[in-house]
Order: sequence, then C-alpha cells, then structure tokens
Amino acid sequence: MLQSDSKGDNGEEIYMTYCKSCHGKKGSLGIGGAAKLTKSELSLDERIEIISNGKGKMTGFGALLSKKEVKAVAKFTETFTK
Ligand code: HEC
Repeated sequence: MLQSDSKGDNGEEIYMTYCKSCHGKKGSLGIGGAAKLTKSELSLDERIEIISNGKGKMTGFGALLSKKEVKAVAKFTETFTK
C-alpha cells in the first residue's frame, strides 16, 4: 500500500498508480483533455490545489491521498517540464 510512506517521497509511485491513465507515463498523454504536464507552468502550490480539489474533468485526490502524498506527486509532476 501507498500508506507506507516513511521516505515521504513516493511521488512517482503515486503518479504511476493514479495519474498515468490520463496523463501518461511521461505526462504528455492528455486523455480526455487532460492537461499536458510537460507544458504546465503552474507553481507547486497551484498543482497541489488542483490535485487535491480537481479541475474540470479531473477529480480531486484530496480524499484519497494524504497532504504529504499530494505534495510528493505534485513535485513529481514538475519533473516532466525539465
Ligand atoms: C480522469 C483523468 C485524470 C486523472 C486520473 C488525473 N488527471 Fe490531472 N488533469 C486531467 C484533466 C482533464 C486536466 C485539465 C483540467 C482543466 O484544466 O480543466 C488535468 C489537469 C491537471 C493538472 C494541471 C495542469 C495545468 O497546467 O493546468 C495537474 C498538475 C494534474 N492534472 C495532475 C494530476 C495528478 C498528479 C494526478 C494523479 C494524482 C492526476 N492529475 C490525475 C485529468 C486527469
């Protein structure tokens, strides 16, 4: 389970579990109008907000993931633009 989060940085694992289906392994898939994460210019806080509460067709993950997990996966999405 993802609960075993002692390292506090399992963002990649969370992404591959919950986000890949729409955003793709490299963040550029864009299924169902999913934003291309490779082109995102959002700040970390804005990502955290969208990941927690959702936006448009993307459902929020605030109920499913802990704050720490949301932050970890938000940080992971930043790696796509680099
Ligand atoms: C059901 C498909 C779906 C899933 C699953 C999904 N997303 Fe999204 N995501 C979208 C869509 C669609 C948008 C565009 C929302 C809009 O702008 O209306 C979006 C937008 C975003 C954005 C904003 C990007 C930008 O620049 O506007 C981020 C960040 C993001 N998603 C991260 C994630 C993360 C992290 C996960 C997994 C925890 C995830 N998404 C899971 C569909 C999805």
